[in-house]
Amino acid sequence: MKVPLLDLHAQYKSIKSEVKSAIDEVLESQYFIMGDTVKRFEAEIADNCNATHAFGCASGSDALLLALMAIDIKPGEYVITTPFTFFATAGAISRLGAIPVFADIDPTTFNIDPNEIEAILNGEHPVANRLAVDVSKIRAIIPVHLYGQMAEMTPIMELAKMYDLYVIEDAAQAIGSKYKGKIAGEFGDFGCFSFFPSKNLGAYGDGGLITIKDAALAEKVDILRTHGARPKYHNIYVGMNSRLDAMQAAILSVKLPYLDEWSQKRREAAQRYNALFEEHGITSLISECSSSCVDQGNEGCALPENKLVLPSEIEGAPENDGKHIYHQYTVRVKNRDEIIEALKNEGIGSAVYYPVPMHMQKCYSDMGFKSEDFPKSVCAANQALSLPIYPEITPEQQEYVVSKLTKILSNYA
Ligand SMILES: Cc1ncc(COP(=O)(O)O)c(C=O)c1O
Repeated sequence: MKVPLLDLHAQYKSIKSEVKSAIDEVLESQYFIMGDTVKRFEAEIADNCNATHAFGCASGSDALLLALMAIDIKPGEYVITTPFTFFATAGAISRLGAIPVFADIDPTTFNIDPNEIEAILNGEHPVANRLAVDVSKIRAIIPVHLYGQMAEMTPIMELAKMYDLYVIEDAAQAIGSKYKGKIAGEFGDFGCFSFFPSKNLGAYGDGGLITIKDAALAEKVDILRTHGARPKYHNIYVGMNSRLDAMQAAILSVKLPYLDEWSQKRREAAQRYNALFEEHGITSLISECSSSCVDQGNEGCALPENKLVLPSEIEGAPENDGKHIYHQYTVRVKNRDEIIEALKNEGIGSAVYYPVPMHMQKCYSDMGFKSEDFPKSVCAANQALSLPIYPEITPEQQEYVVSKLTKILSNYA
């Protein structure tokens, strides 16, 4: 049996005729950039995400950049975010000459820990203090809803209010995810979404979208995405060319009505994995990550070599009207790279999101970080292993993954 990490063919097959006629319509119109098709999709997403304003753009990376440009982030200012994310989050901050201030993660959810944010803002975070972060120049927080589960937005929003900071939700992996009854993008000043093909709502190329609360900021984003010009050829700001193609918008409009059903299927698949792993008796609770754990590399963690840690949903979800949409189903294991090879030999795809935390990226090597500054992120980068998940995955495929992984782990007994 073969179980790929993601199978986009299965989804395409189920919507092929609708997609083809949507593409055909765009071809017949010969209108490819912005226009009514894009406007219609923006309205649909705004409705879906309870947003007042929504603007398509070229990618999730550009959505983050546009949000930071809209609030006029300047060189030398600071933005708090997580070190355990895709580079686009930190990269958007740095590209504007601003400085990312990292707050370590909650190891159970892999998402930014609000206590860490609070310590930075109170001037009590040892790393921020060592690097002489000027708290008065912190302008925003970018929580990332990693793997499809929202960060702890209640305390994050409280801190943002207390310190008068903007909140830009990086919801690239979390469209349709919920926390305490609100949907991803609904808490912050901005919600940034990606339609990269492998995302839960994936285009057939690059694409992104930004949702915005404030009307004036919304207008600014709209202007910024077309070179900062309004009217055309009269540039108010130095903007960029970041637009969603009509073709991608048409495809996404076909897919959007299926999103809830697809997310539900992903949730069911995650629950099936959890139950199967429990049945096989190979699960372990999360171990405490510490600086010493990082000093000793992967060997320092208390996680037994023949067990794995299941992904966990934040307290109360879904009972508390929260919803993880399992963009990824990510477990923790030791000997991760060997396990990936062994899975590959059994025809099973897997991936590491992400192997290098932001503070250890070469491009940030002059910022003065040490590996052990964010031990929980380093530990996650050593142990995280994403297993195949997509709406069409079959119970047989999942049983195959679990039985093979159980066998591989038993070699470490
Ligand atoms: C957390 C996160 N932020 C931002 C992005 C950037 O999105 P895009 O690839 O559409 O630029 C991604 C996409 O991979 C992501 O996973």
